[in-house]
Amino acid sequence: MTNQFPPSVVLCDVSPRDGLQNECKPIATADKIALVQGLIDAGMPRVEVTSFVSPKAIPQMADAQEVMLGLQRKPGVELVVLVPNQKGAERALACRPDELNLVMSVTESHSRANLRMSPQESFEKLKEVVTATRDQVKLNVSLSCSFGCPFEGDVATDQVLHWVKAFADLGVTGVSLCDTTGMAFPSQVRELVGRVQDQSPATRITLHFHNSRGLGLTNVFEGLRAGVQHYDACTGGIGGCPYAPGASGNACMEDIVHALHCEGIQTGVDLNKLLQVSKGLGELLEHPLSGQVVYAGPRSRTYALDQAKAQ
Ligand code: COA
Ligand code: ZN
Repeated sequence: MTNQFPPSVVLCDVSPRDGLQNECKPIATADKIALVQGLIDAGMPRVEVTSFVSPKAIPQMADAQEVMLGLQRKPGVELVVLVPNQKGAERALACRPDELNLVMSVTESHSRANLRMSPQESFEKLKEVVTATRDQVKLNVSLSCSFGCPFEGDVATDQVLHWVKAFADLGVTGVSLCDTTGMAFPSQVRELVGRVQDQSPATRITLHFHNSRGLGLTNVFEGLRAGVQHYDACTGGIGGCPYAPGASGNACMEDIVHALHCEGIQTGVDLNKLLQVSKGLGELLEHPLSGQVVYAGPRSRTYALDQAKAQ
């Protein structure tokens, strides 16, 4: 029996950016580089390496340039960086990323908290970035709070569709629908994705879920049913936006990879290598990570019968 899922997906590990931006402990530049290198070596097709934002807003990303320039690239692996404005784009382009991930929030309150401007002001700034860079680099826009806002609650689907169309009209070919504080639920995913697909069929949709309420993986599967092939997630399930109260870890990358492989969906990722990266990340961050498979092992794991006594 065949299932209705796409045969393969493209994963983007955002743990070096969405993950580390939310960690209190300063992380050495060399450790950030080693994390990205580990993800590349594990076969991750895309990595969001860092963000070129104000170092006052996000001190953890102050070494964005050093991280980018310290990497050994692998052909075919796309390195993505997040930028909020023209200054960020200029700093980023000097490091030759494969893609700029423009960031804006669809709600007034989260936009002001996170970017210190309204969505419209943010759009005007990003429009300048698009005009200046679209011939040089691939562009994607991440729409924060697409599934709900920690300040305003429910977000109208039309509000999200408005910004998807605005960026599509500018020629931005990809949009990430971001569930910044884990408010998304399956029927909502189905509805929003369906409406975006109907309105902007040429736009590549990426789904970016946080697992704050335990629905991350469930929402990924709802996205698969809708035919979405691009997903962001964090190794170790780390992550969160410091300017969104209640934000906690992203959907966990290794748990997603494991689940996708169980369903026969190809990712190109070597799960065992990714689990090693996750273990190393736990040691680096010195706190327990929220993934499950890193503790339980893949479902192919079996025990000798005499080990049962030790359980
Ligand atoms: N990179 C580095 N520095 C930047 C910058 C960027 N992309 N954008 C602005 N700055 C600097 C300015 O040069 C200025 O520096 P100065 O004080 O030394 O002169 C200072 O930041 C203030 O600039 P301004 O344009 O007034 O920005 P702001 O203080 O209103 O902040 C943002 C606006 C968007 C730059 C800031 O809120 C930000 O970086 N937010 C990102 C938050 C984030 O990453 N959240 C998680 C991801 S969703
Ligand atoms: Zn996020």
